[in-house]
Amino acid sequence: MEVIIQKDAEAASQLTAALIARALEVKPHLALGLATGRTMERLYSILAEKHHQERLDFSLAVTFNLDEYIGLPPEDPNSYRSYMNRHLFNRINIDRRNTFLPNGLAPDLDAECRLYEERIRDFGGIDLQLLGIGRVGHIGFNEPLSAMQSRTRCKALTPETVAENSRLFDDPAKMPKRAITMGVGTILECKRCLMLVTGKEKAAIVAKAVEGPITSMISASALQLHPRCTVIVDEDAASALQHGEYYRWIFENEEEWEHFRR
Ligand code: GLP
Repeated sequence: MEVIIQKDAEAASQLTAALIARALEVKPHLALGLATGRTMERLYSILAEKHHQERLDFSLAVTFNLDEYIGLPPEDPNSYRSYMNRHLFNRINIDRRNTFLPNGLAPDLDAECRLYEERIRDFGGIDLQLLGIGRVGHIGFNEPLSAMQSRTRCKALTPETVAENSRLFDDPAKMPKRAITMGVGTILECKRCLMLVTGKEKAAIVAKAVEGPITSMISASALQLHPRCTVIVDEDAASALQHGEYYRWIFENEEEWEHFRR
């Protein structure tokens, strides 16, 4: 795992966007894993700006989102499909047929989960998976006690997650209590992971995920097992890390980051 500390949320989002843009330039038919949440909104705006101003081309890319609520139609403004259309897909030149999210309205949800896994495999696996972290330490909707080898499946959401995410619903009671999510095992198979975390309220959980013991109570800690995981944090989110100086030193001195230093 490598940790990159940036001075604020804007710089962290810019760096994350630059890494995604680089990956797309190297491989135009990138299989890109996407995440939702407030943290990603600025990042998606930057990617849209890069498309318009720097001709960043998404026309051959394929995207797989981590998760989707069960029971919300795609056109519901609270569905993750709507979120993705609003924040990214409507603003770039991606072929909508190549944008995948689990279908939370599928008549057979288990079959839908299996199909999602098959589709990822058919496209050769995910090249780069973008991740955020929830306050309970989840990646996707892998709530505490998610097995390290779990695959895409239906998951009941913890009361903490429901309280956290229902604030985004006009009527909090309408928030589904279940979701389909890629599993921890699915995420660990992605070729590269990029986790973006900003804000003071995430400082304690990101420190546990990055520097604490690996535990299924904090599914993000499983990323310590991933051979190529980069965690990008702002100063606020980095404030509880014990080895911040070391991470800063690596970013300032390692050749591989030269192009991305400002
Ligand atoms: C949801 C998503 C997660 C995301 C989390 C963080 O729970 N399922 O993938 O990481 O939100 O959201 P925010 O950026 O709003 O804190």
